[in-house]
Amino acid sequence: MKVVVVGTGYVGLVTGVCLAEKNHNVICLDINENKINMMREGKSPIYEPNLEELMTENYKAGKLDYSTNYKKAYKDAEVIIIAVGTPEKADGSANLEYVYEVSKQIAENLERDCIIAIKSTVPIGTNDNIEEYIKANLRNPVNIEVVSNPEFLSQGTAVHDTLEAYRIIIGTNSNKAKNVMSELYKDFNSPIVFMTRKSSEMVKYASNDFLAIKISYINDIANLCDVVGANIDDVIKGMGYDKRIGNEYLKPGCGYGGSCFPKDTKSLHYLATQGGYNLKSVEATIAINKKQKIVLIEKARKEFKTFNNINVAILGLAFKPDTDDLREAPSIDNIEILLEEGANIKVYDPKAMNKLKENFSYKVEYAKMPQEALKNADVCFIFTEWEEIKNVKPSEYKELMKRPIVYDGRNIYHPEEMKSCEVKYYSIGRGE
Ligand SMILES: NC(=O)c1ccc[n+]([C@@H]2O[C@H](COP(=O)([O-])OP(=O)(O)OC[C@H]3O[C@@H](n4cnc5c(N)ncnc54)[C@H](O)[C@@H]3O)[C@@H](O)[C@H]2O)c1
Repeated sequence: MKVVVVGTGYVGLVTGVCLAEKNHNVICLDINENKINMMREGKSPIYEPNLEELMTENYKAGKLDYSTNYKKAYKDAEVIIIAVGTPEKADGSANLEYVYEVSKQIAENLERDCIIAIKSTVPIGTNDNIEEYIKANLRNPVNIEVVSNPEFLSQGTAVHDTLEAYRIIIGTNSNKAKNVMSELYKDFNSPIVFMTRKSSEMVKYASNDFLAIKISYINDIANLCDVVGANIDDVIKGMGYDKRIGNEYLKPGCGYGGSCFPKDTKSLHYLATQGGYNLKSVEATIAINKKQKIVLIEKARKEFKTFNNINVAILGLAFKPDTDDLREAPSIDNIEILLEEGANIKVYDPKAMNKLKENFSYKVEYAKMPQEALKNADVCFIFTEWEEIKNVKPSEYKELMKRPIVYDGRNIYHPEEMKSCEVKYYSIGRGE
């Protein structure tokens, strides 16, 4: 099928590449010319395992192309997938400006009947509104239908999550749209679940917010473990035997980040409030996570009244391993506090340091290895559990740091092991 995917970010590019892998004829469209030029040279603008390899294979095979020419691309597409960003506005609601801009461009340029699938995460009711908007602005006598097709991939495993999706949700009441979307996904070995557009939009928010609630719940319990002297590792182990609970997404840490959970919790809460409903579970989650992102600094206040002139090593910047994404990453909140207090910061991250340089004008030093960041440091904060960071031996903290004090936001080490290497070690929920 002739498919155009609009927006070549984490969702759009991965979707386009995976659809080409399943033998569709795909154009990945973006307004950012630099990105398009990079991709034409075989380079991915984002880091995702296996992405670049599949980009190269499918581009060479002629199944995948990249373009900024939306007029040409939209003209004769059978399916257009909208995957542009829906960032958070100041009031917590979702910014739909990019989705509407694309919708306008589609309406003005379509020359054949087309199914338009919205993959961007959008508030409940948006698909209905977009369909109405496009129909009202069509320049040519063509039929369109808008289908909700939310995305559930996780950054760091995006290619795998797309090719082996747990489920594909299609929100539409139209038989024609059901048939086209079934054809699009026929070679994906995933169950396809049909429902109304509004229910489909809600599946996305309810799923993300549930995961955010799960993370905040275990963080809350971990903090309580610190207060009462229990050990969160044992608690999770004990809980996980119960199949109703399971042990996925029950890992304490210094808060969730990324481009999805923070904005999708706020957006659903905003939507509920607009409808006169108080979504208390999500409200509590947002508040817990805000505090959790600076839990390490709060712990460190016992050792450091201020960070003025303190040499700080920061290991890990990305909001999770295997991505270079810094959006809403806990490292950022902490770097800002530390810099404001006058700390001397040296950071290490295997993939996200360029993004920090490009997007923030922080006065920090960059280390090529974790060990380089640790040299002569008074304190170390760990924000991401990259393999490269996990591989730092406990004894190296003692050998390299001026004062071996480590605050670990991802519970990488065993407290006993660190203690035996004479490292003062604090993690989450393990009673230190
Ligand atoms: N990142 C994730 O893990 C993830 C997972 C599931 C769902 N989502 C949702 O998917 C959507 C996209 O997220 P993302 O992280 O891929 O975003 P992103 O910011 O990485 O990428 C968006 C892309 O859209 C492009 N764009 C903007 N306006 C355009 C236009 N008029 N024409 C063509 N391209 C345009 C931008 O240049 C950018 O490259 C969001 O709604 C997000 O909530 C994201």
